[in-house]
Amino acid sequence: MATDLLAVDRLNVFYGDSHVLHDVSWRLQTGRLLALLGRNGAGKSTTIHTIVGFLPARSGAVRLDGLDIHNTAPELISRAGVGLVPQGRRIFGSLTVRENLDVAARRAAPGGGRVWTREDVNHLFPRLGERQHQVASSLSGGELQMLAIGRALMTSPRLLLLDEPSEGLAPQIVREVQQVLQDLKQQVSIVLVEQNLGLAMTLADDVVLLDTGRVVFAGTREAFSERSEELQVHLGVH
Ligand SMILES: Nc1ncnc2c1ncn2[C@@H]1O[C@H](COP(=O)(O)OP(=O)(O)OP(=O)(O)O)[C@@H](O)[C@H]1O
Ligand SMILES: [Mg+2]
Repeated sequence: MATDLLAVDRLNVFYGDSHVLHDVSWRLQTGRLLALLGRNGAGKSTTIHTIVGFLPARSGAVRLDGLDIHNTAPELISRAGVGLVPQGRRIFGSLTVRENLDVAARRAAPGGGRVWTREDVNHLFPRLGERQHQVASSLSGGELQMLAIGRALMTSPRLLLLDEPSEGLAPQIVREVQQVLQDLKQQVSIVLVEQNLGLAMTLADDVVLLDTGRVVFAGTREAFSERSEELQVHLGVH
């Protein structure tokens, strides 16, 4: 049996005394896109932050290619080929587009996926290419999101984690993000946190649904669609 690229295994995570993730388990195989769904406060970002090493797990494991990486330093997890596009984008506003990309550049992890250069990112996002010397604070919301994705690609990840990339974007820009992710999913394995169900369902191979820190569904998109009426209650969609 093939080893999972990423396995989240019975994770329990706390903020102080507050128990936020309860025995969260799911897995992702190479080449697939997994949509991590759930309403506000369900624990999606907490899961992502635990995977990248920002938060410690009280118990459980996070395995990358079978190796337990939980409670490892974020820098080492990044070097192992895990790229993050954080919620809220977190771009350096006073740096130019080019500087934002260059600070993220790094040699690809051994055994990693494709190597990305600044030229590759500019090819994927021509609008960024035209704005190389512009400070990031002058970019539109959509351009900032493209830059956030570009910055993560500059680490040449084999696993890309995106935390609500469509948040706060106009429908036209969401369609652009969708097209970009459609292309990227041919090249890198992806975990996509989303509240935009339409976007998630268009792209996903697999779905994990969280409700108050517990997995209430994990399976293929087809299996999710078959049960979507019953599962809507966990999404806050009325
Ligand atoms: N730093 C923190 N300290 C204490 N509690 C926190 C902290 N960050 C998040 N929480 C709580 O943990 C729970 C899960 O939050 P999390 O940010 O993971 O949700 P989310 O699914 O990403 O939501 P959203 O869609 O709004 O981003 C929530 O109840 C939240 O209030
Ligand atoms: Mg979040």
